[in-house]
Amino acid sequence: MVKPNVPALVLAPMEGITDAPMRALQCSTGAFTHAVSEFIRVSSDALPSKIFLRDVPELANGGLTPTGVPVQIQILGGDPELMALSAVAACEAGATSIDINFGCPAKTVNRHDGGASLLKYPDRIRGIVAAVRSAVPVAFPVSAKLRLGWDSINSIHKNAAMAAEGGASWITIHARTRMQGYMPPVFWPNIGQVRTELDIPVVANGDIWSFDDFRRCRDETGCLHYMIGRGALADPLLSCQIAHELGILKGESSTQIWKDDDWIPLLKGLIRYTDHYGNPQPTRNVLRFKQWLKLARNHGNFQHFEGIKQSRTIDEFFEMLSTAVAVFA
Ligand SMILES: Cc1cc2nc3c(=O)[nH]c(=O)nc-3n(C[C@H](O)[C@H](O)[C@H](O)COP(=O)(O)O)c2cc1C
Repeated sequence: MVKPNVPALVLAPMEGITDAPMRALQCSTGAFTHAVSEFIRVSSDALPSKIFLRDVPELANGGLTPTGVPVQIQILGGDPELMALSAVAACEAGATSIDINFGCPAKTVNRHDGGASLLKYPDRIRGIVAAVRSAVPVAFPVSAKLRLGWDSINSIHKNAAMAAEGGASWITIHARTRMQGYMPPVFWPNIGQVRTELDIPVVANGDIWSFDDFRRCRDETGCLHYMIGRGALADPLLSCQIAHELGILKGESSTQIWKDDDWIPLLKGLIRYTDHYGNPQPTRNVLRFKQWLKLARNHGNFQHFEGIKQSRTIDEFFEMLSTAVAVFA
């Protein structure tokens, strides 16, 4: 997990993308120091342990991915008591660390008093963090994931201070407001300002798409702790490059140049992990593969999206990908 003075690279939670098989695959390189689960929403009732076991199957393996990387449970909601009871249930299911989502921009979530809507109420952030903190064992870290604000990038100062006052062990900041959604720009220097104001670690997050982005983000934030999401998917080499730079991976950094046919074993790795977790849904895999490769086309170097976009089954997908890669090689 995140500790002062120890570099960290965290796999971002991405609902519908970083499920257990994807966490397993991404973490198998050793680049990530931990992963955060997709958010689990606490609405009108406290959640029972079985929901956590269902959504985060790593809990049945000591909260670890198959290669031994810890997975933190993320909960989302606005009621301190229900959040605290749910966190306790997560710990009973095997969780050893809880993250609280104060960043989700989804309208349905925000209308029901959760995610980024809480950025308008600093006292409530403190209350929720404090309630969860005091409910779970002291040795189990509780962290908060925030955006810069609802509509102002300056809200982060107060909100981050409140999360720290509530007892957060660290905070992660996605350097945008809720109103920005995922639109540029990201405001990395604001993360750096907050880092100097707090006594707890600050994890920098948002728009690290390349190694150059990482270096700029490091220069602008001064952070030792980073979270990456979409960039790790779009460029499969990025997390290892960053991990080498941070000293998380030792030895020489690989000089591999990623080619489109390198996607084939990587995607087959996701199928293996999907089977491992007992969820072999071939159609869902095709949709996921296309979603993933679209990201790689838009933000990475994947050249052959046109060649695979009509595929309907997993076999068709691999056949079309192999053909496209061979024809245009
Ligand atoms: C499809 C999608 C789903 C997301 N789901 C979550 C989530 O469940 N919990 C959360 O805290 N953040 C979620 N996020 C935000 C990411 O964790 C991260 O903060 C954001 O993508 C910026 O980081 P990046 O530029 O490295 O991707 C999601 C982002 C995306 C694109």
